[in-house]
Amino acid sequence: PGKQAMIIAVDGPTASGKGTIAKALAERFGLPHLDTGLLYRAVGRQVFLTGGDPDDAEDALAATDFPESLLQDPELRNEETGGLASRVSVHRPVRQALYERQRKFATQPGGAVLDGRDIGTVIAPKADVKLFVTATVEARAMRRWKEMALRGESHSLPEIEADLRQRDARDIARVEAPLKPAEGAVMLDTSELDRDAAIQAAIEAVERIRAGR
Ligand code: DC
Repeated sequence: PGKQAMIIAVDGPTASGKGTIAKALAERFGLPHLDTGLLYRAVGRQVFLTGGDPDDAEDALAATDFPESLLQDPELRNEETGGLASRVSVHRPVRQALYERQRKFATQPGGAVLDGRDIGTVIAPKADVKLFVTATVEARAMRRWKEMALRGESHSLPEIEADLRQRDARDIARVEAPLKPAEGAVMLDTSELDRDAAIQAAIEAVERIRAGR
């Protein structure tokens, strides 16, 4: 598989499999990959570390000045930080502060893969390929539960499900760049697919679009 200069936008809710898919597509097509959720997670984490209020636009904006090294913090991956990320991401100034960095990454000469909530709608509306990855809340909760169990974190399934629903509701209902499929996005439901099957389906979708079928 050779390198192909194209922009691939992968959007979807938390635990839909979009991150896994984006990473695999980047590898398959020789493209750099940016997990944009990580940027919002860094802001959420920075608010926490500096004792700010994630629901306050000024505190959240100040946290966009997070040190680069924070992106390597393993704590970014946990549920608490995910919740904080969802809260800071509703503020328009926060989104604007992260916009340029994402836009630059998307438009680099060789092409790129980005995953998030608003890549196909806001960050890279001219992306060559737009995927919207979904899965039922039950399937996503089960994945989360397994991931967390592997890390030794114990949360009950109903607890995780409730958290996912709350996060979805916030991401969908917000005024600024809400989570929704971009125009022309290919929908990919991974509820019934394992990791490899989901990746395969995504690769096939990209190849179909590239071939103009
Ligand atoms: O994909 P994730 O779970 O790492 O994202 C964490 C939160 O960050 C998500 O709930 C909403 C926000 N986010 C966003 O608003 N826009 C993006 N492009 C990516 C993430």
